Amino acid sequence: MEQSRGLRLILLPLPFQGHINPMLELGNLLHSKGFSITIVHTKFNSLNPSSHPHFTFHSIPVDLSESEASIKEAGCLLSLINAKCVEPFRERLATLLSDAEEDPVACLISDPLLHFTRSVAESFELPRILLRTGGAASFAVYAAFPLLKEKGYLPIQDSRLEEPVTELSPFKVKDLPRLDTCDPESFYQLITNMANEPKASSGLIFNTFEDLEQHALATLRQNSYPNIPIFPVGPFHKCDSAASSSSTGLLTEDQSCISWLNTQAPKSVVYVSFGSIAAVKEAQFLEIAWGLANSNHPFLWVVRPGLVHGSEPLPDGFLESLNGRGHIVKWAPQKQVLAHPAVGAFWTHNGWNSTLESVCEGVPMICMPCFSDQMANARYVSHVWKVGVQIEHGIERVEIERTINLLMVEKEGEEIRDRALKLMEKANICLKEGGSSYQSLDGLVKHILSIKS
Ligand code: UDX
Repeated sequence: MEQSRGLRLILLPLPFQGHINPMLELGNLLHSKGFSITIVHTKFNSLNPSSHPHFTFHSIPVDLSESEASIKEAGCLLSLINAKCVEPFRERLATLLSDAEEDPVACLISDPLLHFTRSVAESFELPRILLRTGGAASFAVYAAFPLLKEKGYLPIQDSRLEEPVTELSPFKVKDLPRLDTCDPESFYQLITNMANEPKASSGLIFNTFEDLEQHALATLRQNSYPNIPIFPVGPFHKCDSAASSSSTGLLTEDQSCISWLNTQAPKSVVYVSFGSIAAVKEAQFLEIAWGLANSNHPFLWVVRPGLVHGSEPLPDGFLESLNGRGHIVKWAPQKQVLAHPAVGAFWTHNGWNSTLESVCEGVPMICMPCFSDQMANARYVSHVWKVGVQIEHGIERVEIERTINLLMVEKEGEEIRDRALKLMEKANICLKEGGSSYQSLDGLVKHILSIKS
């Protein structure tokens, strides 16, 4: 891609783990196509430039105090980030655009939750492409929020949770995005604002692939954003070897996972992680611990700081009593873990990155969605791709033990495991020359060259 050499892209991630990882991975992909990459990041959750020496990093002086960073209300937190970033980003962009020493900037790539970037980019007449870090199916649900409100599904009523959403098969009311820490009206505003952003952009990128979310991508193209080009160019981390090896974690990865996994039998281990934000109550944490212990399968469990509301009440001697069958870490090298031959199942909260990483390694999932897009992702895993099962009846040790055994031992689990391997093959094919994501990436590069400022 000779035409992209000498051109620069400015990438601005939302400063949360599940959004940073895919943005940096996309940067790797576009770098492999010849662009130079400049990452603008906030002081809050700031990034480590040494993980990506081929990029240029610029920090903007946006920080959150401890009390601001711990705001539980997502709408408030995002409003704060949008308000605090606007001027520092405008100033930084002015400097970057006027720097004659650097390659000229072709466009800005940012997150649709950072809506302030619209006015800033417009003021410099800089084209803006959006990277939606979640999946296409969940985004189609977000885009349908006004319809869901009109039809009475929103705000969600507890008495209707099991009802199908006939306009959005295969979802039930309980699969619709919600955030318990956000009041329904603010959440509605947050989502509709985000879903409107692509309409004012030059394109929308997804970390997904056609074969995985064909129907949702078609719905977005035909109904929601008929005038906006959509590029499913994922799974990002599998497109480029640099992406899967470089750590972008805000927490330090504990490599003891890998040496522990090396001592375990093939496909015997349940890997348990609920991503970077989800939290459980103390009582649920105990049920998880006993469910894992009682299942009699080896397990690798990520208990990151903040996972438990309150303290971490593991009973004294819990791990010791398992004679090495359990291993607990604060943060794992997740992609390496999922690719390890000892891992037989992934108990996940179904954040989109975790879901996609599991699909790519053919690891079947135990789904325990917690908020926002995770419920829609889990429904796809269990009922569309059928590569996992949901914990449907509460976080209780007996239910956990039953679900793990269903997936790891029983006939139904065998069929699920087979499907997971077949889906992994599809993920591999889409990346090969001529595959859908391979072509979509070429389309994205051509598009950037055609819109460049
Ligand atoms: C958030 C939302 O929760 C999620 O629903 C949305 O799709 C993206 O933003 P998060 O909860 O952190 O993300 O989950 P997820 O999307 O799965 O991202 C977590 C990332 O952290 C993954 O890339 C995963 O590989 C990585 N991770 C997680 C580690 O590297 N080590 C760990 O121990 C746990």
